[in-house]
Amino acid sequence: MELIRNVVLTGFMGSGKSVVGNQLSSNLSIPWIDTDNWIEEKTGMTIQEIFKEHGEDFFREWETKCLEELLRCSSKQVISVGGGLPIRERNQELLRELGVVIYLSARPEDIYERVAGDQSRPLLQGDDLQEKILHLWNERRLVYENCADITVVTTGKSIDETAEEIIRLLCEHNERSF
Ligand code: S3P
Repeated sequence: MELIRNVVLTGFMGSGKSVVGNQLSSNLSIPWIDTDNWIEEKTGMTIQEIFKEHGEDFFREWETKCLEELLRCSSKQVISVGGGLPIRERNQELLRELGVVIYLSARPEDIYERVAGDQSRPLLQGDDLQEKILHLWNERRLVYENCADITVVTTGKSIDETAEEIIRLLCEHNERSF
């Protein structure tokens, strides 16, 4: 069985894009790439350092560069993208070109549980985490939905179950050849 296009995972911070991406990559026997890791490698800086020293716009430029670079790659991959990447319209076009876009949807309360105490995400630092999550989630929810070919609800599902559901939906979506 072979994938026809890349599998692109989007969703809010803490929705499980990286862990599910890793699991899918092993189930489908294809490489996994994460745009945040790619940017950290290329710039030699962590995401926090990039935000602190160069600001968010600079980071967003790198996200677009990353997608453009990935489009040049001919082998099929599972690609997890940073939570804010689909917000730029240009990136939405690039995502559609890149492959089948899967939105891992998660409720704000689940997100809160997963990201509380995490210091690696610049947009979620400081006071009132719940309010920050709710504000960004409301702002982005429709963008994720509109940009996706497939939406997968992650609430109450293990990583394995989510990955299996994605594979089943990819088959239904005719993203695999037999
Ligand atoms: C961001 C999400 C992060 C990372 C950066 C900004 C966002 O990635 O790209 O901190 O704007 O939602 P994850 O979604 O992998 O946490």
